Amino acid sequence: MASVLPLLLFFLLLQPLFSTANVHKLNQLRSELIISQPTSLNDTPPTLYFEVTKPIPVPKTKPCSQLILQHDFAYTYGKAPVFANYTPPSNCPSQNFSMVVLEWKATSKGRQFDRIFGVWLSGVELLRSCTAEPRTNGIVWSVEKDITRYYSLLQKNQTLAVYLGNLIDKTYTGIYHVNISFHFYPAEASLSSYEQHFGNLASGYHSWADLILPISRNLPLNDGLWFEIENSTDTVLKEFEIPQNAYRAVLEVYVSFHENDEFWYSNPTNEYIAANNLSGTPGNGPFREVVVGLDGVVVGAVWPYTVIYTGGVNPLLWRPITGIGSFDLPSYDIEITPFLGNILDGKSHKIGFNVTNALNVWYIDANLHIWLDKQSIRTEGQLVKHTSLPLVVSLVSDFKGLDGTFLTKVSRSVSSVGWVKSSNGNITTQSIQDFSYSNTMVMGNDGDMQKVNQNIHFNDTIHINTPTSYVHSLISNKTFPLYLYTDFLEQGNKTYLSVANVDLGFIEKKTASAGSSLLKSSLRNLQNADGNMVVKNNLVVSGVGNTQQVYRYHGGKFCYFRNVSSSNYTILYDEVENTCDKKAKSSWDFGLRRLWPFGTGII
Ligand SMILES: *[C@@H]1O[C@H](CO)[C@@H](O)[C@H](O)[C@H]1NC(C)=O
Ligand SMILES: *[C@@H]1O[C@H](CO)[C@@H](O)[C@H](O)[C@H]1NC(C)=O
Ligand SMILES: *[C@@H]1O[C@H](CO)[C@@H](O)[C@H](O)[C@H]1NC(C)=O
Ligand SMILES: *[C@@H]1O[C@H](CO)[C@@H](O)[C@H](O)[C@H]1NC(C)=O
Ligand SMILES: *[C@@H]1O[C@H](CO)[C@@H](O)[C@H](O)[C@H]1NC(C)=O
Ligand SMILES: *[C@@H]1O[C@H](CO)[C@@H](O)[C@H](O)[C@H]1NC(C)=O
Ligand SMILES: *[C@@H]1O[C@H](CO)[C@@H](O)[C@H](O)[C@H]1NC(C)=O
Ligand SMILES: *[C@@H]1O[C@H](CO)[C@@H](O)[C@H](O)[C@H]1NC(C)=O
Ligand SMILES: *[C@@H]1O[C@H](CO)[C@@H](O)[C@H](O)[C@H]1NC(C)=O
Ligand SMILES: *[C@@H]1O[C@H](CO)[C@@H](O)[C@H](O)[C@H]1NC(C)=O
Ligand SMILES: *[C@@H]1O[C@H](CO)[C@@H](O)[C@H](O)[C@H]1NC(C)=O
Ligand SMILES: *[C@@H]1O[C@H](CO)[C@@H](O)[C@H](O)[C@H]1NC(C)=O
Repeated sequence: MASVLPLLLFFLLLQPLFSTANVHKLNQLRSELIISQPTSLNDTPPTLYFEVTKPIPVPKTKPCSQLILQHDFAYTYGKAPVFANYTPPSNCPSQNFSMVVLEWKATSKGRQFDRIFGVWLSGVELLRSCTAEPRTNGIVWSVEKDITRYYSLLQKNQTLAVYLGNLIDKTYTGIYHVNISFHFYPAEASLSSYEQHFGNLASGYHSWADLILPISRNLPLNDGLWFEIENSTDTVLKEFEIPQNAYRAVLEVYVSFHENDEFWYSNPTNEYIAANNLSGTPGNGPFREVVVGLDGVVVGAVWPYTVIYTGGVNPLLWRPITGIGSFDLPSYDIEITPFLGNILDGKSHKIGFNVTNALNVWYIDANLHIWLDKQSIRTEGQLVKHTSLPLVVSLVSDFKGLDGTFLTKVSRSVSSVGWVKSSNGNITTQSIQDFSYSNTMVMGNDGDMQKVNQNIHFNDTIHINTPTSYVHSLISNKTFPLYLYTDFLEQGNKTYLSVANVDLGFIEKKTASAGSSLLKSSLRNLQNADGNMVVKNNLVVSGVGNTQQVYRYHGGKFCYFRNVSSSNYTILYDEVENTCDKKAKSSWDFGLRRLWPFGTGII
């Protein structure tokens, strides 16, 4: 017994959601698992955790790097964010940058929960992420994010804020040691490949917003700068005012879901909960959407990607390959330009958020990216048409006792047309969001087995008509497939076997066109994971997790392919390719600027 220490996992309930007399297995998904490793691991070097994603296509120049914050997050739960001063780089050999990359680097050792965190620059969110869960031998991971679209902020002194609520005690010993650096890449000297396509940020010929307004919580406060939404009637509002010479506006929304809604897509209906007296089980069914309002009018919605955090379902699945989006949660852009005519009056307006069917708790905030007309002090505009029909929801349920089948289908469409007259001319923008959702949920094995098959289609289309009737279009079609199978098999003696399968996908096709010019990119990022754990008296006696991932990106001249698999912390195979099958004229990132002349900081 002493020589062969079994994998020891501790079962811990984050909060008492239900009385122990009524522990329904549906709730096991919501329990937090903390995994402890044998001390014999102590001599092993730290494990590298990672999220599979394409590399950022940085210029070939040497970056000018600044360490912005170094902090050890230990007793930060429920406290004010950690602050650091940001000053623009002044000692760099060149001030002509063409890209800026944020690097989050962290280590931790021991045992700790998966912690959600946010990074803000003067209230503008730059990164929403989840920490990796440490091991006895220590772990290390990093997140790199292209933050060039925030360049107007980066040119002035700002305050960086990081909220990562952590707690240390005898059991949960993992401190997160964090460095945040910004890397400024000078434009390439010759106007060869990069700059020719991309330009540089100092020249004024750039595509990023001139101003970014934070739609986040004001200081002082005692946790993140995100708003918290606790239920379906909870609407949060932020007042803002824009300069009267704006000609384009895009709202970038950040969202994450926790506690009773961490696995919202697996929540049963309230009817099922009531019929079975499952008072402690989070319900409201499996559909959620974030609704975004401007002065009370629905301007768009976000049907969020089903991010599974590093402790979710079975924590062994996410070591060392983490779940899609968990280290860099996606943000969602909503084109606000058609509504500019309503808010160019120099007065204060309100952006609001609510979440359909929400349970405690959703963390939401946004950044309002605004492009300004430098040739004039005033632009004018008008909303011509706006259509936002109520949600179309259908639910077919068939259950007896704890077993049954539930089919939920939902769709929504939001569209708006408006013109803005600036020195660019009188430009009409049309923005369309089309959503559809389906969720098939099966309960079996007296409610211990659950299968969820969900698909979200999220299509964004923007058309702009220039004065010469030249039409530019930008289309993004996203599909978010999710399959989740969980089963809890009683073994007698207060022991049960937990079995889980997860298939997660992020599929996106983008098209940009102007006249006969066309650019396309596609991403297929698919993960299949399966694992099991034997749990006795809230202690996991043994367990294993296997994950396969195939990531395939085509962006014209730039392609990336990775096929990687892990089992029980070990990489089984890892194949990377970055050549494209066929010759393309232009790559997505570089070509977009030519087709989309009025600021590409979108989609
Ligand atoms: C940046 O580059 C542009 C040309 O690309 C040049 O005109 C300008 O002087 C440069 N600015 C600095 C600060 O080096
Ligand atoms: C952070 O930076 C300091 C100073 O360069 C270095 O000693 C430390 O190892 C870094 N920590 C991480 C987590 O990268
Ligand atoms: C920005 O911060 C630096 C360092 O604190 C300071 O020297 C400088 O005066 C500040 N600049 C402005 C415009 O406030
Ligand atoms: C919803 O949450 C808000 C904010 O906490 C609270 O004021 C309100 O009472 C809640 N509504 C319900 C129905 O629980
Ligand atoms: C639920 O509780 C009610 C009242 O306590 C009881 O009458 C009913 O039989 C219970 N139903 C089930 C399925 O346990
Ligand atoms: C959510 O916000 C939208 C836009 O402001 C509003 O129309 C809607 O009534 C709100 N929903 C709830 C439940 O408050
Ligand atoms: C801009 O164009 C729209 C659509 O063609 C037109 O209705 C509107 O009057 C124009 N606005 C101005 C100020 O010319
Ligand atoms: C989104 O686009 C895809 C691909 O063309 C299409 O199959 C799907 O029906 C569209 N979904 C919605 C909600 O419009
Ligand atoms: C994207 O979705 C729209 C409908 O919302 C559809 O018309 C279009 O064909 C789709 N494009 C691609 C590339 O799938
Ligand atoms: C249950 O556990 C006890 C003590 O650990 C052991 O003696 C007994 O054989 C176990 N029974 C079963 C069915 O596993
Ligand atoms: C990924 O690699 C595995 C092992 O080499 C192989 O069996 C599988 O076919 C590969 N998948 C793809 C899509 O290339
Ligand atoms: C998992 O790996 C650890 C060490 O890397 C080893 O001690 C353990 O026995 C393995 N467990 C399984 C189920 O393979």
